[in-house]
Amino acid sequence: MSAPLRNIVVLISGAGSNLQALMRAAQQEQWEQRLQARIAAVVSNRSDAPGLALARTAGLACELLDHTEYPSRHAFDAALMTRIDAHQPTLVLLAGFMRILTPEFVRHYEGRLINIHPSLLPAFTGLHTHRRALEAGCKVAGATVHRVTAELDHGPILAQAAVPVMPDDSPETLAARVRAAEHQIYPQAVREWLQTR
Ligand code: GRF
Repeated sequence: MSAPLRNIVVLISGAGSNLQALMRAAQQEQWEQRLQARIAAVVSNRSDAPGLALARTAGLACELLDHTEYPSRHAFDAALMTRIDAHQPTLVLLAGFMRILTPEFVRHYEGRLINIHPSLLPAFTGLHTHRRALEAGCKVAGATVHRVTAELDHGPILAQAAVPVMPDDSPETLAARVRAAEHQIYPQAVREWLQTR
């Protein structure tokens, strides 16, 4: 008898290009057969997230949980945990999920909550990483996949990729170069996580 599949839940707020990279890797690398894992559900806090449409087209279970309909961050996170836990996830992936998480949420998924951040952490935590990297005169930029801990954009690093900063870069051109690297390292880090557990 084959081992039961391990569920991955992906949280998004926007374009979903990292989600797409993960979906592509899961399909091309046959994660179900080779790693006994699948993307079981995608949850978005925004109804207009293009990533939701991508997930729907791919036939994944999609859920919308609009944070504006909750009276507090705690109430939203509690509802989010209930939705996520319905899938009994082995991994919860933040893929452009633009919410600050409560300590309760982070604690609940400790050890199985992973994020991708568009900078070479520990440099440039928070927002506007590309503009700040350009303003600082950085010659390299990049992206980081890390385990999520209570402190924003901290936690043990699982994968990193560096890209060059070009003299004529704008935040947008740099973001595009970093994004391409994100699409390599996020699936790679998840694959390695699944292979070693
Ligand atoms: C990515 O740059 C990711 O690193 C950051 O948010 C962005 C999400 O992009 N956390 P997408 O929705 O995956 O295209």
